[in-house]
Amino acid sequence: MWLLVLITLSIALFYYLITINLNYWRKRFVPGPDPWPLVGNIGPSFIGRLSAGEIFTKIYREYEGYPFVGIFRATSPALIVRDPDFVKNITVKDFNHFQDNDIHIDKETDPIFGRNPFVLKGTEWKTTRAQLTSCFTSGKMKGMYPLICKSSERMVRYVEDETSKSSTMESRELCIRFTLDNVASCAFGLEGRCFDEPYSSFRRMADEFLSPDNFWMSIKTTVLFLIPALATFLKIKLVSDQTTQKLLDIVTATLKQRKENNIVRNDFLEYVSQLKDGSNVFTDLDMTAHAASFFGDGYESSSRVMSFLLFELARNPRVQEKLRQEILESYMKNNDSFSYESIHEMSYLDACFNENMRKNSIVHQLTKVCTEKYTYTPTDPEFKKVTVTVEAGTPIIIPLTGLQNDPKYFESPDEFKPERFLDKENIQKYTYLPFGEGPRVCLGQRFGVTQIKVGLVHLLKNYRVTVNQKTQLPLKYDPWYIMLHAIGGLWIDLHKVE
Ligand code: HEM
Repeated sequence: MWLLVLITLSIALFYYLITINLNYWRKRFVPGPDPWPLVGNIGPSFIGRLSAGEIFTKIYREYEGYPFVGIFRATSPALIVRDPDFVKNITVKDFNHFQDNDIHIDKETDPIFGRNPFVLKGTEWKTTRAQLTSCFTSGKMKGMYPLICKSSERMVRYVEDETSKSSTMESRELCIRFTLDNVASCAFGLEGRCFDEPYSSFRRMADEFLSPDNFWMSIKTTVLFLIPALATFLKIKLVSDQTTQKLLDIVTATLKQRKENNIVRNDFLEYVSQLKDGSNVFTDLDMTAHAASFFGDGYESSSRVMSFLLFELARNPRVQEKLRQEILESYMKNNDSFSYESIHEMSYLDACFNENMRKNSIVHQLTKVCTEKYTYTPTDPEFKKVTVTVEAGTPIIIPLTGLQNDPKYFESPDEFKPERFLDKENIQKYTYLPFGEGPRVCLGQRFGVTQIKVGLVHLLKNYRVTVNQKTQLPLKYDPWYIMLHAIGGLWIDLHKVE
């Protein structure tokens, strides 16, 4: 009898504890969908039915006219921001209230990713960001430009060889090889051999590094981004001890070899080693970690962006032809070559790049955390006049896919129309932010954009791309990946341009 009472009381207590907070947003008069105990509003992401990002996009669409929506990310209340003015305040105007990203990785647990500016907080982030900014200036990017061209030429030669056997390739596989080969060279000054061997040692290291193309890594990234408190408790790390050691060895050996042979190279390792020379707080480990982060950040996101861009061009032959004309004209005008400047002067190339980033945002959302209590009431009459006071510690979700595919801001959002980006005045501010905005904007944006554009112009000058029927259309995305990942791959055919 007593046992039955005890069990009943325990169940009642458990139920009380998991439901006590579910009124959080209702008590504050913040609109939002009803949450479930324990899983909140992201239940379908735990059973692989939808990714959390897809759920946030769906909620964004359901709350048309509201400036924000209160949801539950599992058990914690979080706020989805819909009003572009609020996005501006978070990322720029009132940045000091939302300085940090909502991710927790301890430097002791993960010495490499734990030093990435993306996860650093407060003053440590500020100092590191200021130091690293000097490694990403346009002068530094120009210095790396010849290395990027060499990788692009290797890619074209590889496509030449491969298409003599079969014209069909998977777009992301081709783009991974290119960005990895390029990043091996630009980060460490090493030959990635990514076009010579299917699984070069660099490719293997990349697969072990941040790559979410591995089941356990997808689980880890899901926990890291959706349940940060659990990630801290479990001491989750993204870079294994083995890979950390491999990277340390590469950096140490390369620096030693350069010192002994008086070699100075225009690459990221050289730039970060100069930071170490001018500082007594910048350690060897800091230097390795930043070079290693450059390696991870540099190939993963860029290869995804580039593979979707190639695929969009394959699907839109008129756009592709117009772009090829611009590329050929620029090539001829520049004495049968491309330069850093001429690549960045091509306006239609830039428009195609931006349109792809809008339509296929590789992350569905940015997640910040409120660091100082903040109150917001919209002033734009397009939004209902409701007020929210956000407490410190609350996760803030900026729904990139929602905003960038909202017909209110982008007419016929499902169509690939680069022309909309030819006049940037047409784009409403803070509705298009694929690299983030404000002081936390992507540090590697210039490098990422340059490597994708350089690779693309070399490829399109020589090859026409079409969609191969192996692609599963309409595209569906794997819910277990934190980044946009087409199920079954993006298959293209490459045909030599005569
Ligand atoms: C086209 C490819 C890329 C995309 C779409 C992209 C996107 C982003 C986004 C959305 C953020 C978060 C911004 C925010 O929190 O507001 C970010 C941050 C960051 N990205 Fe990128 N990125 C790309 C390439 C790169 C490359 C090539 C590097 C370095 C080699 C890089 C390094 C970083 C770093 C260090 C941060 C953290 C900045 C900070 O918190 O201060 N990214 N990126």
